[in-house]
Amino acid sequence: MTQNSPISILVVEDEPAQRKLIVQMLAAQEHRVTSAASVEDAIVSLKQQTPDLIFSDWKLGQLTGMDLLRYVRTHYPDIGFIIATAYGTITHAVDAMQAGADDYLAKPYQRQTLLLAIDKVAKSTQLKQQNRQLTSALAEQQQLVGLVGKAPCMQKVYTRVQRISATDATVLIGGESGTGKELAARALYQLSDRHNKPFVTINCGAIPESLAEAELFGAEKGAYTGANTLKIGKLEAADGGTLFLDEIGELPLLQQTKLLRFLQEGVVSRIGQNTEMTLDVRVIAATHRDLQAEVAAGRFREDLYYRLNVVPIHMPALRQRREDIGRLVEHFLCLHAKQYGVTAPKLTAKTLKVLLDHPWPGNVRELANRIERFVLLADEQEMIAELNSCAPAISQSQFVLPDEGIEWENFEKHCLQQAMDRHDGNRTKAAKLLGLSYKAFLYRLEKHQLV
Ligand SMILES: Nc1ncnc2c1ncn2[C@@H]1O[C@H](COP(=O)(O)OP(=O)(O)OP(=O)(O)O)[C@@H](O)[C@H]1O
Ligand SMILES: [Mg+2]
Repeated sequence: MTQNSPISILVVEDEPAQRKLIVQMLAAQEHRVTSAASVEDAIVSLKQQTPDLIFSDWKLGQLTGMDLLRYVRTHYPDIGFIIATAYGTITHAVDAMQAGADDYLAKPYQRQTLLLAIDKVAKSTQLKQQNRQLTSALAEQQQLVGLVGKAPCMQKVYTRVQRISATDATVLIGGESGTGKELAARALYQLSDRHNKPFVTINCGAIPESLAEAELFGAEKGAYTGANTLKIGKLEAADGGTLFLDEIGELPLLQQTKLLRFLQEGVVSRIGQNTEMTLDVRVIAATHRDLQAEVAAGRFREDLYYRLNVVPIHMPALRQRREDIGRLVEHFLCLHAKQYGVTAPKLTAKTLKVLLDHPWPGNVRELANRIERFVLLADEQEMIAELNSCAPAISQSQFVLPDEGIEWENFEKHCLQQAMDRHDGNRTKAAKLLGLSYKAFLYRLEKHQLV
């Protein structure tokens, strides 16, 4: 709003001739003017459309401009407010300013005085609004691009992401499935100087081992059977930008070696290429696995682990930030309602409690899916029944050993850790959750150096 730039003004004046005069005067300056003859009319008008500024007379039938001012300051703190007081009633002016009026005009006033006052207040109102927007933008930074959550453990994540986003440091994001690792990687990218360069992602768990090398590093035409054309690898495609290596724990050992070479020397070569290419790629990796345990088991190169782990970021499990569940529920209700163009169904207090108490083993992803289904079906009973049926399934643990087997020590450590997390470190309760005696539980904690 520069000087004299048009704004929207509500004129409140009970005397019709006077009202008409003021409206004409302001409309002649191209302001968008509406008017009301009483405090009640003004409030109705405000509810329909919020003006930038209100110019109100003091005396308005039974009520006064002060009544309107108090209402406006409670409900619309950003609207500019100028009040016209009768000549000689300086106490009125003082009262009005104390109640939050931006200015007052003593009657009778000149046309020019009114216009000047309007300009001045319009400018300061705009500053006030900008200031408020800035403050709320700052508050929103606590949220970080796309990530919902205000728990202290999330604040730590945001601080870390912000601090390192400007650098080219390699980042390793850990955390259980569905905790937002990919979202954090994208936030890192969006906040970085490389945000208008490519963001290339590769899910190392989703490519067959035989194709992994070509997929990552590329292949010359004819480098292997079936390589009919030149294949550009993901690393090359990300040149100048960022490469997100999702599920890095699944990368075959052979490709780990080649990736390490790139991280150390910045060079790669396509399969079948005799020369080397120097690339400028910022690498962000993520895994739900305990990479240190993978190293111990000989499935992950130790030197690569250290190379990747320059800056680790750990995404907390949802059960470790229960205070965010309500916020996330609301977020996904709005998000999916918008996505499907429906009104978000209401949750009863009882259902909300079930949601808040649920252990959410699948973390935010599980919560998002549940709420999406609820938005589509609006079937609260079904959601409660499903959530309730999860609890016994977990405690009865119909665990099926995967075909490829499991790493027992690692598995045990995870069970212990999760039990401790779930009961905020209360060992008695954690032991009970695992069906172990306190002594047996403690023995295992010590074995895994978790005490
Ligand atoms: N803090 C959060 N705020 C809002 N949405 C979130 C948050 N964390 C995760 N999500 C949403 O939950 C889903 C899972 O997140 P994401 O894919 O980033 O998790 P992940 O840790 O990479 O999971 P996985 O290990 O299963 O790949 C996505 O739809 C994502 O948008
Ligand atoms: Mg992921």
